Amino acid sequence: MSELKEILVIGGTGAQGMPVVKAESGRYRVRVLTRSPEASRAQELAALQNVTLIQGAQDNQKDLHRAFQGVYGAWVNTDGFTLGEKDELYYGIRAYEIARAEGVQHYIWAAIEYALKIADWKEKYHCGHMDTKGRIGDLILAQGQEGMKSSLLTTGPYMEMLMDGMFVPREQPDGSFWWVNPAKDGKIPLISLQDVGVYSLWLFDNLSESAGLNLEVTTDHVSFTDIARIFTEVTGKQGVHKSVPFEQYAPLTEPYPGAYVNWGLGPNAPRDDSIMTWRENFSAWWNYWGEGITKPRDLGLLDRIHPGRIKSLAEWMRRSGYDGRPRSVLKLVEDWNKKHSDKAITYGHGG
Ligand SMILES: NC(=O)c1ccc[n+]([C@@H]2O[C@H](COP(=O)([O-])OP(=O)(O)OC[C@H]3O[C@@H](n4cnc5c(N)ncnc54)[C@H](OP(=O)(O)O)[C@@H]3O)[C@@H](O)[C@H]2O)c1
Repeated sequence: MSELKEILVIGGTGAQGMPVVKAESGRYRVRVLTRSPEASRAQELAALQNVTLIQGAQDNQKDLHRAFQGVYGAWVNTDGFTLGEKDELYYGIRAYEIARAEGVQHYIWAAIEYALKIADWKEKYHCGHMDTKGRIGDLILAQGQEGMKSSLLTTGPYMEMLMDGMFVPREQPDGSFWWVNPAKDGKIPLISLQDVGVYSLWLFDNLSESAGLNLEVTTDHVSFTDIARIFTEVTGKQGVHKSVPFEQYAPLTEPYPGAYVNWGLGPNAPRDDSIMTWRENFSAWWNYWGEGITKPRDLGLLDRIHPGRIKSLAEWMRRSGYDGRPRSVLKLVEDWNKKHSDKAITYGHGG
């Protein structure tokens, strides 16, 4: 065990981080930063071979120094939904700087595309949680590859959000499943989380190719018309998509009235002008994905890196036994629902 290189994973107990820890722990020692080492997801990871936990917070510089100390590599997914845009920008940059100071050799930033920039700076696409990840990704690659190497792993919306999050359909009394949301006919590059682990492992294992690379991953590009149709084909249940204005959709889906994007901290947490409301953030998010502003991914590269990748939404639905009903995926939602069983959240929230 001691001969394996060690990797720090930030966000390792989350929906995206768990498959990464699982994939890497076969080949590396993995150190997982978590605020709550006793919590069930952290304990599930600690039970794996080669995994240790380190208690600390993403928004604490002393914790970050301790966490990065002595590791070979790092995989970092800060949580914009907890931190908010300004704090994520600050600690996202500090995490990179501290990793360099601590002598880390390979740094992987879990990015999202920089929506505002790709959409030619039109404010209707300013989606705080996407833009922060994109800005930090740009800044990291701009530092070049002298010294610490860096790679971006850019994901789109999780395919698993069809089970938990923005894409959960509502079951109707007649047994059909309805997606009622602001999406138009844009094709969204959904990504299956289990494949994120494999892509991350490839980035660590293939430094000569991955240094300086922004690996933009997807499983399948699908519109909501496609999602409803494929759902019907796979499950035999009727799927329906209805596009409605954001103003009609928002009151039915925001976590609670007047929620901010970091809604999980509750309505009374201290906030300033940089914290977008849930509606501001997610109206931009729906504008961006729903209108198909995003650029195509390089599927040839993804096939070469991961020949066994899940290649379609239909395949993912079959493999996961998808039935349109909600399941727990996001830790933030799980934590909220444990604390607020009277105000449990199923639809809408993060993305
Ligand atoms: N939903 C999507 O489709 C999607 C797609 C691409 C990217 N993302 C991005 O992914 C991020 C969220 O990650 P996720 O999807 O894995 O969510 P998640 O399942 O809710 O997990 C959140 C993770 O963040 C950690 N965390 C939160 N605040 C922390 C803090 N102050 N210090 C240390 N750890 C903290 C949690 O760790 P502990 O609770 O164990 O400390 C947990 O590992 C967001 O920034 C989001 O923009 C989401």
